[in-house]
Amino acid sequence: EMLEKGGFDHFMLKEIYEQPRSIKDCMRGRIYPEEGKVQLGGIKEFAEKLKNIDRIIIVACGTSWHAGLVGEYLIEEYARIPVEVEYASEFRYRNPIITEKDVVIAISQSGETADTMAAIEMAKERGATIFGICNVAGASIPRLTHAGVYTHAGPEIGVASTKAFTAQVTVLTLMAFYMAQQKGTITTSKLIELLTELDHIPEKIQVALESNDLVKEVAEKIKDSTNCLFLGRGSGFPVALEGALKLKEISYIHAEGYPAAEMKHGPIALIDEEMPVVFIATQNSSYEKVISNIQEVKARKGKVIAIVTQGDTEVKKMADYCIEIPDAKEAFLPLLATIPLQLLSYHIAVMRGCNVDQPRNLAKSVTVE
Ligand code: G6P
Repeated sequence: EMLEKGGFDHFMLKEIYEQPRSIKDCMRGRIYPEEGKVQLGGIKEFAEKLKNIDRIIIVACGTSWHAGLVGEYLIEEYARIPVEVEYASEFRYRNPIITEKDVVIAISQSGETADTMAAIEMAKERGATIFGICNVAGASIPRLTHAGVYTHAGPEIGVASTKAFTAQVTVLTLMAFYMAQQKGTITTSKLIELLTELDHIPEKIQVALESNDLVKEVAEKIKDSTNCLFLGRGSGFPVALEGALKLKEISYIHAEGYPAAEMKHGPIALIDEEMPVVFIATQNSSYEKVISNIQEVKARKGKVIAIVTQGDTEVKKMADYCIEIPDAKEAFLPLLATIPLQLLSYHIAVMRGCNVDQPRNLAKSVTVE
């Protein structure tokens, strides 16, 4: 088993460290930075249809649903197509309005999640075109969908999803650019710029992984907490949700992800000196707003752990601990900001003596509803 873990103590840690490679694999043959072009062979036959779609509905569960929220942000930003992100388990039991002009994107690491499969079947009956984003080739979901794009992250053994999540986000980024290209909502020069940077994201993830020792120190400080809040804005919000999910899944610390501005409508009541609050405070369009949210937490003596852009000075003046990630365009921040959060939950869980790879009560894929 040690051999399978490639020298790492747990599959989860191995999979976290595989991300520079898995993201590269996911992009291979799909991006052409010099030409400013994205090619997605799996959905190519629908290229024409993409010019005229009214709406995209993303259905998924768990971590895959969080990837969907990042996708919403990216598709709306670049392709200007309205997106709804639905929990498959809720969607399937509503009477949703679906038309033949809708595209449903089902996201699933395993390709076997029962609720996601049922949501696909329902949308299909109502005439929608279904795309899949899956990690397991030949699984049930890729067989049910009309077309799709594999994430190519390789087998994921740890129950808590890590490399599959970042690969899903990568595919959604490529889909957003592909749709933008089809619809003409992006210029070739803009795509050249974005793809050139995306091409270097694996190296930046490698740099983000270098925060491991510091993250471990932070983990030591907050490992005995009973609660933890994760706050972010914009595309930092789904990152916060995913950070909280990882922590509760494997360390059993109660954690909640929230949009930072919503904090004052509830979670702020929980803040005292015992409460660690993890902020996604990277330099992007919501940076100044996040800073004022950090001040609100500090004023109530909360412990602030901030994920910041390399070289940040503002947040450093306020936060108890800062973990740096390389600078990147806003579109790519979720891929980088997720890395220290994965490491943080991993170290906390190990320190608490939890079974990291197989947390209690959880299954890698939920094939019953
Ligand atoms: C389970 C797993 C999660 C996963 C979710 C959805 O809860 O433990 O890691 O995110 O199912 O699974 P899927 O395979 O559809 O992405």
